[in-house]
This record gives sequence, structure tokens and C-alpha cells, in this order.
Amino acid sequence: MTQRGAAPDGRPPEIPPAAPMRTASLEQPSRRVHSVSGDGSDPLLRVNNIEVVYDHVILVLKGVSLEVPQGGIVALLGANGAGKSTTLKSISNLLRAERGDVTKGTIEFAGTRIEKMDPSRVVKSGVVQVMEGRRCFEHLTVEEDLLTGAHTRRDGRRAIKQDLERVYEYFPRLVARRSVKTGYISGGEQQMVAIGRALMVRPKLMLLDEPSMGLAPQLVQEIFGIITRMNREENVSILLAEQNVAQALKVAQYAYVLENGRIVLDGDAQTIQGNADIREFYLGLTEIGKKSYREVKYYRRRKRWLA
Ligand SMILES: Nc1ncnc2c1ncn2[C@@H]1O[C@H](COP(=O)(O)OP(=O)(O)O)[C@@H](O)[C@H]1O
Ligand SMILES: [Mg+2]
Repeated sequence: MTQRGAAPDGRPPEIPPAAPMRTASLEQPSRRVHSVSGDGSDPLLRVNNIEVVYDHVILVLKGVSLEVPQGGIVALLGANGAGKSTTLKSISNLLRAERGDVTKGTIEFAGTRIEKMDPSRVVKSGVVQVMEGRRCFEHLTVEEDLLTGAHTRRDGRRAIKQDLERVYEYFPRLVARRSVKTGYISGGEQQMVAIGRALMVRPKLMLLDEPSMGLAPQLVQEIFGIITRMNREENVSILLAEQNVAQALKVAQYAYVLENGRIVLDGDAQTIQGNADIREFYLGLTEIGKKSYREVKYYRRRKRWLA
């Protein structure tokens, strides 16, 4: 089981290592994790207590467990550096390219262990990651870039062409840009290409790494709307890493909060949204209304799960 509530390294000395003052959602962690699927069926993805080390020495994930049910949208929330991208890359196995290793724990996708699988086989089995920073192939046109998503498929040109049209239906803005090199399109359009390319894989599970990053609020709404539609219409399950907690909780049914490489809280989206610490530290809200992080007095700036 994840060590929820454990103090991270570097805790200020003035905070005594008292027994954790548990929030309601911390009380039954194991039951909670298993309740994600709701109907008791096996989850599509099960990350079980993984530890990740970079360069053989830098311990970044310290026992992370999470589940994504079949057909669900699950949010992985946390500040910059919490370990969100590392978690996603552990699942897609793109970690090795960055000298990272899953040194403990297991990752199961649709009942099969994948933590040691080759990244290309992970993709073939139906897991695709949309990397942070909407990476595009700048020398390719929008359409060529989208088609790279289909290069492992063996179901023929016609099916691929149909899916391409489907991507343009989701992202009508890309139609007019189909012959433009992706280096010349806007950040929002690049994010659409990155998601569209992933859709061309016909995935069962999409790992989305901060799709809202650097985009104007209206565009964020648009992209999140498309994510919800994709989930419903293409039956793609989604694990969504986000710092934009408010937006992510609008589309996800369940959420995990990651801090310092540990899951410190998890629960259904409504519960997480109502959690006093989440409201204060991630949503900038308190009972008396909006408040900036700086205005919160230091003694209040101690999350219950670190107590
Ligand atoms: N390739 C790497 N080598 C060493 N440390 C890394 C590497 N990638 C990320 N880290 C470290 O791991 C921690 C988590 O990073 P990351 O997973 O990118 O967090 P997030 O996506 O939540 O911002 C950070 O402290 C970061 O500095
Ligand atoms: Mg990241």
C-alpha cells in the first residue's frame, strides 16, 4: 500500500513529526483504490506500488499506486516536479530513454504486465502517451504528423483514412492547416495534432501529460471538451496528468494527488474538489472566498496530509 501521509524529505524542522491528522479520504486507502472501477470489475490499468529511479540513484517515485477503470477518465494532479510525467512515462515505458527505471512494483494493462515491455509493444497493446509540451514533428505537415500515429497499424489504408477524417471531425481547426508544417501552427493547434496523432493509434488508454499547459483558457476548455467526447465516443480510457486542478476535476471521475513522488490523496472528483486542502493549496479558495497562496499564513500553509 502507498505510504500516504508520510513526510517528504526536507520537511521544515519546525513541523513536528506528529501522527498524521488524516482527512476523511485518507482513512481507507485500500478500499478506495479498489472502488475506482465501481462495479468491482478489473481495472484497465493497475499501477501497483512502483518506485522509479533516474540515473541509478535519483529516487523520484516512492511507491505510487493507481488505477484507471475501463472507460474512465482519471486525473493525476500535482504541482511541477511532483512526478506526474515520470508516472506516465513508467506506464508507456518511455522512461528508459531518459535513464529512468521502474525498480519496484508492477504495472498491469488489461491483465498483462507491461512494466518491462518494449515501448513499441506497449503502444501496440493499446497504450499511447501524449507527451508534455505538445511535441510535434516540425518538418512534417499537420497531416503527415497525424499519419505517423498510424504507422504501426496493419488494418489498411482505408481504415486509416477514415480515422484521419475522424480526427479532423474532432479538430476542425486542423482541416485548413493540413498542409502546413507543424512548426508554423499555433500552440493550441500543436496540442490538437499531438492528441490527434495519439488517436490515430486507436488506443484503449491515452496518457495525457498536461494538455492545458500554456494554452489560453478558452482553448483549454475546447481541448478538455474534446477529451471528454473522445472518451465517450471512441471508448478511450484516459489518465490525465494536470496542474490545472479545476479543469481536470471537471472532466475526471476520479483523481489522485501526487506530491514529492507519493500519492497523498485520492478519491472521486467531487470529494477531491471538496477537500479543504485541495481548495486552499490547489484551487486557491478558502471558506471566505478566493485567496492567493501568499496570503495564507505560514502556520496554515501546512497540508493535513503532511502533518
Ligand atoms: N531524466 C531525469 N533525470 C533525473 N531526474 C529527473 C528526470 N526527469 C525528471 N526528474 C526529476 O523527477 C522529479 C519529478 O519530475 P516529473 O515527473 O517531470 O514531475 P512533473 O511532471 O509532476 O512536473 C523532479 O524532481 C525532476 O527533477
Ligand atoms: Mg510533467
